[in-house]
Parts: sequence; C-alpha cells; structure tokens
Amino acid sequence: MNAVYVDSKMTDDDRRRGLYNGQLFLFSPTSASLELVELAREMAREAFAPLEPQAAQFDLPVEKYVEILASLKPRFIHHPRCKMLIPRILGELGCDPVKTYFDVPRLRTATSDGYLTSGVAYAFHPHRDTWYSAPMFQNNWWMPVYDIEPDNAMAFHLRYWDRAIRNGSAEYNYAEWNRESRKNAAQHITTDTRKQPRPEEPVELDPQVRLICPPGGLILFSGAHLHSTVPNTSGRTRYSIDFRTVHLDDARANQGAPNIDSACTGTTMGDYLRCTDLAHLPADLIGRYDTPPLAHAGREDAR
Ligand SMILES: [Fe+2]
Repeated sequence: MNAVYVDSKMTDDDRRRGLYNGQLFLFSPTSASLELVELAREMAREAFAPLEPQAAQFDLPVEKYVEILASLKPRFIHHPRCKMLIPRILGELGCDPVKTYFDVPRLRTATSDGYLTSGVAYAFHPHRDTWYSAPMFQNNWWMPVYDIEPDNAMAFHLRYWDRAIRNGSAEYNYAEWNRESRKNAAQHITTDTRKQPRPEEPVELDPQVRLICPPGGLILFSGAHLHSTVPNTSGRTRYSIDFRTVHLDDARANQGAPNIDSACTGTTMGDYLRCTDLAHLPADLIGRYDTPPLAHAGREDAR
C-alpha cells in the first residue's frame, strides 16, 4: 500500500520510516524552495536569452542547445547559493540540520517531442536510484521549476516497490561511472551509449502515478522507488531540480528501504554534505558502504 501525504506535519524520523515503507510525500513550496526555483529561472533566462527557456529548443540547433545546457547545469549545481538554500529548505521541512546530509542539487531538463533525450538531457528510463550505488536510506527530493502537467512530469511505478525486476545494476560502480563517463556527457548528443543500469525484463509502466505540484513544491520519495521521466509531449521543455539526503542515524544503523533487486557496487555516500557546515559523512561510515567493483570480464566493452 502506498499513500501520498500532502504537507504532512509528522516528524522527520516518522517520515523516513514511512519513506522506507514506500510512502510518498508532497509539500507546498517553501520560502527557500521558491528562492531556489527563482535562481534556476534566472540562470536559465540568462543562458538562453533572448529566448524563453521553456521554448528555446524550438529555435536552436540541437548542438547549440547542448552547448548551453553543458555550461548552465554545472554552474547551477555548484552555485554557492544552492548550498545555502538546500539546508534552509530541509530546515523548513523539519529535518535535523546536524544529522541530515545532502548532495548538490541537479538541474534537469526534459525537452518536448523527443528533441533531445540523451547526454546532458538524459531521459531516465524506469530505474531505482539504488541501482546507481545510492544507499537504501537515500531520500529523494524533486521539484518543478515551472508549472508541470501530467505530460511533462515524472512517474512512479508503485507496484514495483516490493516486486523485484531483473536489472543491470550488478555492472554499475559509482566510482567507475564518475571517472569514465560523466565528464563526457556533453558528447552524447543524439544517442547515449553509456552503460546504465536498466530493467532487463519488460516493465509494466501502467498503472503509474504522476504527482503534480506547483513550481517549488517538493515530491519526497525513497531512492528505492521505481520512477521514470515521462515522455514530454507538452510542447515545453520541463526544468526540474532534484537533490538527495541521508540521515546519520539511518547510515549508522543501515536502516532504509528493503533491497529487493539492487546489486551495484561502490557508494554515493561520499557526496553528501552536512547541512550545518558542509562536512562529509565520517570516512569510516563511507567506507562501510563502499563495496569494490565486481570482477567483470566484459567491462571494457561496456562503455
Ligand atoms: Fe532517479
């Protein structure tokens, strides 16, 4: 059973317990989330000027579009204001700043009508973040930058919460991926040859749930939920921001969602920064989750 809690006042401890049971949470925009959205809009506006960011795809050759995104996205990710605004958002929503660690927010785009679905605008097939070396206690936060509709939202495939899917996660190691692939994302313009953990059996995409919230509203879900990018047919590019958190107590106790089908190695634990002072998680704790890559004879061919 999955419920959607709207503007729930439950404590963060109870909320995380709910997340690890597959529940979803939806929050109205907060003052800091609106500031983050405004920062993203401002940067997108500047990057695409004089074009309007949601419509720019229709007036730009795809190579130019990719070039703009390849510069805009890292500038947003590493913007110093992001590191101030995320802790504020989390504080507004009841997270303990001393025990909550976040990673830098990503700015994502989903272009309309299949204009660009790879590389810097990768359209995510159904996946769990836990196939990508995220710990089972990762909390995912997602917000739209402009108004969204069902045809440019994200989708949850709830029936797979407790149903395993044969998938390619065993060949994924986060450190390897970082080293060898991510820096080349801008080169993958029309097709994406990078090896991603995918379902290796047919997935029933319906029924699915698409949560629609206003810009700056937040969807909170477990990184173990199967989710995907909806093929955008809205006629506008969708811009969204997402970031992830982990709670120190969960990391110490290794308590999170049940692992039903993730076999990746390595860990994203080194990415999270403490809300109060941007410190990393203790090294021994990161090490506990950093499993070595599996020996894999075909690895060289996988890229
Ligand atoms: Fe994801």
